[in-house]
Amino acid sequence: MEGEVKAAVKTLREGSGAGSDFLGWVDLPQIYDREEFSRIKKAAERIQRSCDVFVAIGIGGSYLGARAAIEFVKSPFYNALKKDTPAIYFAGNNISSAYLNEILSLCEEKDICINVISKSGTTTEPAIAFRVFRELLERKYGEEGARERIFITTDKAKGKLKELADEKGYETFVVPDDIGGRYSVLTAVGLLPIAVAGIDIDAMMRGASDARIAFRDPDVKKNDAYRYAAARNLLFREGKTTEILVTYDPALAMMNEWWKQLYGESEGKDLTGIFPASVVFSTDLHSLGQYIQQGVRNLFETVIDIQQDNSPFVIPHDPRNIDEMNFISGKTVHEVNRNAFLATVLSHTDGGVPNLILELDSRTAYDFGYLVYFFELACGVSGYILGVNPFDQPGVEGYKNNMYALLGKPGAENEARRNELLKRIQ
Ligand code: PA5
Repeated sequence: MEGEVKAAVKTLREGSGAGSDFLGWVDLPQIYDREEFSRIKKAAERIQRSCDVFVAIGIGGSYLGARAAIEFVKSPFYNALKKDTPAIYFAGNNISSAYLNEILSLCEEKDICINVISKSGTTTEPAIAFRVFRELLERKYGEEGARERIFITTDKAKGKLKELADEKGYETFVVPDDIGGRYSVLTAVGLLPIAVAGIDIDAMMRGASDARIAFRDPDVKKNDAYRYAAARNLLFREGKTTEILVTYDPALAMMNEWWKQLYGESEGKDLTGIFPASVVFSTDLHSLGQYIQQGVRNLFETVIDIQQDNSPFVIPHDPRNIDEMNFISGKTVHEVNRNAFLATVLSHTDGGVPNLILELDSRTAYDFGYLVYFFELACGVSGYILGVNPFDQPGVEGYKNNMYALLGKPGAENEARRNELLKRIQ
């Protein structure tokens, strides 16, 4: 694959390929707006002081990265844990009225701040949630008070959200023009909610910056990001059309979701692309494990293997050995988990499912930044090897246009589409 990888890397680094207007993430860990970065930290401190609940409103690339980071670095139980930072809820990422009502009830009698995140400023899901929360905040704190509690992350100059933010005087942060949603977690899009959770965003940027340097190595054999891009394309050509991202730690479940969007939207187009799926083991060994072991042989797995155990737990000894499990007493849970990992890799490879292993030190902010950059770079290179534009998502518009038409959005085109869709529905 060496020649193909080199050609893809050249295309990416020279900005000569499709979607080259969206390469701002490549040097972002080095070249980012320091003034805005310090404003993010100050806003996060203000939010931490003035609210119990912080609601991050956004969908797709406008929320997955922040949620992944908070669960990865802190915990999937972040909101329930004892802490001196606000609870963080994510709204505007679906159209469920039950979900919206439940978040509203969680906010009752709490001091609230919100961050609306939308690059386009026109996405329906966050727009609905923002309407609801803006109205709630203005009722609760008055227009002046609400202004101090509403933070907007959007395009620097255009869009309805920017217009509203300017009119109302909300503090705004920028989604850079040259960075698409799914590549934007290390911009204000992800950094503000992540900083509100008390995570060290300097360390996160350092991790990404070190990855940027490490993965500049032109030697394809030594560059892990390039090797990953090459390996998954080779497997794809051999009929392995589904890649399953595997974690053995539930704290990475949302990282899996972030990764699925990154690879799914970047590669799934032009009737090609590896289908990105994910599992959390050992949990899913008791559900999807059977299929992976013996179902259709179009799968390969990529395992994120976290080396360190930052929260050791020793399995107790039972003098009566009622469950006959004393052979594991005295071992740590991590040790057992690592054996589950080794056992599964051996078993799945026996079953014809190739495994790629990504070793990561631990679950710190630094590691998160490093891993994000690794996956982004590998994704750009992999997309170019595959022959697609890894930076657009034309297919996402399909359902939106149909939904607007069905909901009666004005305009002749919408009306014509609506009539055609209604005929099909009947
Ligand atoms: O990666 C992308 O570009 C998309 O997933 C967007 O992040 C998502 O559709 C939300 O768009 P917006 O931020 O414009 O509301």
